[in-house]
Amino acid sequence: APAPATAKGSGPAAGVADARAAAAAAADLDALHAAIRAFEGCALKRGARSTVIADGDPAARVMVIGEAPGRDEDRVGKPFVGRSGELLDRMLAAVGLSRTAADPAAAAYVTNVVYWRPLENRRPSGDEVAMLTPFLERHVELARPEVLLLAGATPAQALLGTELGITRLRGSWRRWRGLPVLPTFHPAYLLRQPLKKREVWADLLALRAALDGEEIPA
Ligand code: URA
Repeated sequence: APAPATAKGSGPAAGVADARAAAAAAADLDALHAAIRAFEGCALKRGARSTVIADGDPAARVMVIGEAPGRDEDRVGKPFVGRSGELLDRMLAAVGLSRTAADPAAAAYVTNVVYWRPLENRRPSGDEVAMLTPFLERHVELARPEVLLLAGATPAQALLGTELGITRLRGSWRRWRGLPVLPTFHPAYLLRQPLKKREVWADLLALRAALDGEEIPA
């Protein structure tokens, strides 16, 4: 009979334990990025060219969390470089934010829940999300943004632990360990459903207002 999976064994539970230990041991962002690159618990890594972690300024007030790299991101090794990345940049620019801004007040820091491209661009599974969430949580802890912008259902599932659809979640502030979190639609969805840009525009204005000091609901 196969040996039962243990924390040092195989299977999703072992992966979660390993990810949690590796994430907790990372004392700063460089160490966390190295721990993610060294992590072997996620099978997606074996089908990917790159480990795609983050872009922008880690000192930014706003941290944007997407889903997973696609083909372009896998090729380049940076998050959000394809068509949805272009749209994300335009969305951020509309409210005075940019991942290339020199001033952290106008900057954005961008990452994903998953660091390796799922083949066929499928949505990451619940097991994959659960396994990698300890890294995401540590990433937020170490970057210490003032606000999180969640692009789509996957980061909402990871951090808010809710299966509520993004249509229900978007536009209302939530908290993750006290930190204000705003879920909105993913830019890839907006490329398919351009009429939904109107709602995202409202979300971006709410983000801007919060950065400008408007009180965020508790
Ligand atoms: N979609 C994402 O969620 N993340 C990326 O990096 C690119 C596309």
